[in-house]
Amino acid sequence: MIVTVNGKEHQYDGDPAMPLLWYVRDVLGLTGSKFGCGSGLCGACTMHLDGKSVRSCVLPVQAAEGLTVVTIEGLDPDGDHPAQKAWREHNVPQCGYCQAGQIMQAASLLAENNTPTDKQITEHMSGNLCRCGCYQRIEAAVKSAAI
Ligand code: FES
Repeated sequence: MIVTVNGKEHQYDGDPAMPLLWYVRDVLGLTGSKFGCGSGLCGACTMHLDGKSVRSCVLPVQAAEGLTVVTIEGLDPDGDHPAQKAWREHNVPQCGYCQAGQIMQAASLLAENNTPTDKQITEHMSGNLCRCGCYQRIEAAVKSAAI
């Protein structure tokens, strides 16, 4: 199968049931997306599939065939996506482990709604867990990244 990740096409003939997260991390060596729960519950592995946020730990790589995958490495070539800039301005991360997933989740919201309300931000981000409890800074950063 052909899997397109961050604009590059890759031929893959391995196990089609391999989770997309492991394909991206172990086969392609893109380790920005993290493994947290492995059950689709924490959001650390969030990436985009055709522009929508997905939990790559529970999605087989086969599901990405013919679609476009974007990981944190491909969100912006210079790391200057509005969400990434806002993250830096607000010093969001503490330990940082969940932050790639948080930023990808925020970016999917901003792509479909560039003027989200506080409630919409809270709802959209609610499935991405942060054990350091950076939620207030995360929400402030999403708000400031919105135009
Ligand atoms: Fe995928 Fe937690 S590692 S949702």
